[in-house]
Amino acid sequence: MKKEKNLKTAEIDQRLVDNIEQIMTTNDGVPISDNNNTLKAGERGPSLQQDHIYFDKLMHFDRERIPERVVHARGSGAHGIFEATADLSQYTTAAFLKKGTVTPVFTRFSTVAGFKGSTDLARDVRGFAVKFYTEEGNYDLVGNNIPVFFIQDAMNFPDLVHAVKPEPNNEMPQAASAHDTFWDFISLMPESAHMIMWTMSDRAIPRSFRMMEGFGVHTFKFVNAEGVGTFVKFHWKPRLGVHSVAWNEAQKISGFDADFHRRDLYEAIENGNFPQWDLGVQLIPEADELKYSFDILDATKIIPEELVPVQIIGTMTLNRNPENFFAETEQAAFDPGRLVPGIDVSDDPLLQGRIFSYMDTQNYRLGGPNFHELPINRPVTGKHNNQKDGFARTEIPKGAVSYFPNSKAVGCPYHAMLNDGVGFESHKQPINGSKVRARSDSFADHFTQARLFFNSQSPEEQDHMVNALSFELSKVNDVNIRTRELAILNQIDEELAKNVGTNLGLIPPKELDPLTLKFARQNHPEYPLKPVEP
Ligand code: HEM
Repeated sequence: MKKEKNLKTAEIDQRLVDNIEQIMTTNDGVPISDNNNTLKAGERGPSLQQDHIYFDKLMHFDRERIPERVVHARGSGAHGIFEATADLSQYTTAAFLKKGTVTPVFTRFSTVAGFKGSTDLARDVRGFAVKFYTEEGNYDLVGNNIPVFFIQDAMNFPDLVHAVKPEPNNEMPQAASAHDTFWDFISLMPESAHMIMWTMSDRAIPRSFRMMEGFGVHTFKFVNAEGVGTFVKFHWKPRLGVHSVAWNEAQKISGFDADFHRRDLYEAIENGNFPQWDLGVQLIPEADELKYSFDILDATKIIPEELVPVQIIGTMTLNRNPENFFAETEQAAFDPGRLVPGIDVSDDPLLQGRIFSYMDTQNYRLGGPNFHELPINRPVTGKHNNQKDGFARTEIPKGAVSYFPNSKAVGCPYHAMLNDGVGFESHKQPINGSKVRARSDSFADHFTQARLFFNSQSPEEQDHMVNALSFELSKVNDVNIRTRELAILNQIDEELAKNVGTNLGLIPPKELDPLTLKFARQNHPEYPLKPVEP
């Protein structure tokens, strides 16, 4: 397969090392005469402490593993390009979105809950993370294949992940969601209802990464040359359409080939069947921020396309597999806080919390603050600042000046950079309010959109959801948890709750469980509130 070239992959090509027909050396380049035998005192030993060739080999081997991602550990990536096709100058200054601009990208798809070695076809959300190597630095769109999320506020994220990962006492079960702790948490968090409808739908068992939609999930902001903001939601639409497998197929495929999605993506690209996605946006003027019956800052809500249509603004083509899985896919670091001029975050409290977590975890996972210098993460623009040192620095900054202000390096980028009036500026959004730990009541309607999604499904798809919920809840041992979740389903759709209840031999309660109410009232003292009329 011919290796597709762009600005980023050309840089990666320069870093490739070909070991074929080379003399084997130590890490210091010294030729090795014998790669079979340790150095011994006599043929039958013991081995000698002075065997630096053996130590060189083993010390590296002993350090081969790095921590897997705390979530989204299992994934597959590919290089490609993004071509902008629409004139967005009215909304954003982002250079890579200027019509006709072609930008290198690296995209990683993932499952969320499983370990690095888990099966591709688990029932789970799929990550859909794209790094754009733009002429204004890296921009990461770190989304999922489902347009909403389980929780509304970042403070709950570690709890959600602890609940869905295997239980701490026995590290079981490996299946993502089919267990007591997950459904315990979910049944106490009615805000998860909408996301649960999506994860129990066929969307959570995709046929292929190439056949998944992607969503930025949160509302972001475009900012134009006049500093005017426009709210924006991002959508990736696969050219191959959206397709899923059936649950019994998913189970069989997991048994036969745990790498099913990874293999499919890799082989499609090797065979020249380059997958493509159109990027679409929903644009919401600032004046319309409070116009809807839901809050556009609430990540458990979509903005229905009937209300705000999706406009296509470009196309992504994935056309080259990584040369080395670890160096590229595993070391890739995506972060929703990696923004370029013209794109900013909104006040969504889940998004705000994510901005801390990614940079923090990557400093740990990738061994310190120089992970930006790894070939897969390095911006094609290069980076220029006064940050210095740290573990495994690979760039070699010239000169004596690493501080600002200075009088010694006039004319060098350190000096000029801040004075020419260009660069990222946060949207100048007026702020007022008291500092509070609180949840807005505009986030309190948990069931209207869950119902909307259930009703949007065909009868067959609804059956699949009933079966999925029945399967998952049948793995829950605690009958109180099953019943609590049935009460939540009853708020979404009585028929749905009844059908799942019948499969479990339980009658769904009419009212939410007192414990669910107790937790919901921590955020909304008057819960349940009447949904706002659109
Ligand atoms: C990965 C945190 C919500 C999408 C990660 C990682 C962390 C994290 C720590 C591992 C990153 C790494 O090791 O490089 C959080 C927190 C969240 C949150 C604290 C909420 C407060 C979300 C949401 C989405 C999402 C709402 C989707 C819009 C992803 C994706 C990855 C990821 C796609 C994998 C990126 C890759 O392929 O390397 N998240 N996450 N996360 N997260 Fe989140």
